[in-house]
Amino acid sequence: MQRRYFLISLIVGLSFLVAVIGYAIPPEKEKVPARVVLDNTGGRVLFSHRTHAEEYHTDCADCHHYGLEGGTSLPCGACHPPEFNDEFRLNHQKAFPDKAACLRCHDEAPTGPLAEGERPDIESIPTRGDAFHTMCQGCHEQGGGPFGADACYQCHER
Ligand code: HEC
Ligand code: HEC
Ligand code: HEC
Ligand code: HEC
Ligand code: HEC
Repeated sequence: MQRRYFLISLIVGLSFLVAVIGYAIPPEKEKVPARVVLDNTGGRVLFSHRTHAEEYHTDCADCHHYGLEGGTSLPCGACHPPEFNDEFRLNHQKAFPDKAACLRCHDEAPTGPLAEGERPDIESIPTRGDAFHTMCQGCHEQGGGPFGADACYQCHER
């Protein structure tokens, strides 16, 4: 009898230990995330990230046209905000790990307010919604996958 209780508490104790350890050690950050959730006003998009990279044979750089080194990715929104407003103007500098990224838009890494002629041409940089629609649907139109006026809810949740 006592032996049985001992065994049961041992098992319970061990599973608890395993759970605690599993919880304490964060899983290694995935190099190719399985799924990416993209929340937006058109309805959440559950993007099958790994399937795209592995089964649809799209190259990382087809989508990550900037900033995919060492398995880390700069969020698209760092450069493609919902709009180029004051919030972006004042805060975007903090979104980048190094000065090299500045040169994607600026002629040289700025340190203070910009003179008229030094400002990036925002007409040539798509906003977030446009960047995603152009990228996702542009490729689908050529290589298969949902695009166009009837396809909204193949990507967006209702
Ligand atoms: C079809 C387009 C596409 C392809 C191909 C693709 N990605 Fe991504 N990836 C995305 C999008 C979109 C995001 C989300 C970015 C965001 O949230 O701003 C993302 C996010 C990521 C993230 C960050 C995830 C996070 O949770 O922060 C990593 C890391 C990443 N991708 C690595 C890769 C690697 C490595 C490859 C190639 C093996 C790859 N991706 C191929 C579109 C793609
Ligand atoms: C470091 C800044 C930066 C990051 C990060 C970035 N982009 Fe861009 N992107 C730009 C700039 C600047 C342009 C303007 C056109 C050009 O200079 O290539 C652009 C252009 C684009 C275009 C239009 C291309 C064309 O041919 O018209 C698409 C689509 C796009 N980006 C999608 C994305 C997506 C999706 C992500 C995230 C996976 C992303 N971008 C991440 C800076 C960035
Ligand atoms: C996706 C393009 C993009 C990238 C990348 C980018 N910037 Fe900018 N930056 C802009 C735009 C657009 C403005 C606003 C221009 C205007 O006022 O019309 C701006 C404005 C600025 C300003 C002036 C802010 C003010 O108060 O007027 C500074 C300083 C600046 N950027 C620094 C940086 C630094 C430093 C980096 C890199 C770490 C960087 N930017 C990367 C697009 C970018
Ligand atoms: C470089 C090419 C490419 C890009 C970029 C791309 N896709 Fe796809 N996508 C495909 C291909 C190829 C298929 C498979 C078509 C088929 O087999 O019918 C697909 C299928 C899909 C499907 C239906 C099947 C599934 O896996 O869910 C959805 C939804 C989808 N893509 C969403 C997206 C979204 C959202 C983006 C942008 C973040 C995106 N795709 C960017 C190539 C691309
Ligand atoms: C191939 C997949 C795909 C299709 C098809 C698609 N979208 Fe999207 N849509 C996206 C993604 C990805 C985003 C960006 C998500 C984010 O901002 O994180 C987006 C963003 C949006 C947004 C918010 C940003 C903005 O521009 O205001 C709206 C609204 C939207 N879509 C409406 C639509 C409508 C309406 C249709 C059909 C005519 C459609 N979408 C078709 C993938 C798709």
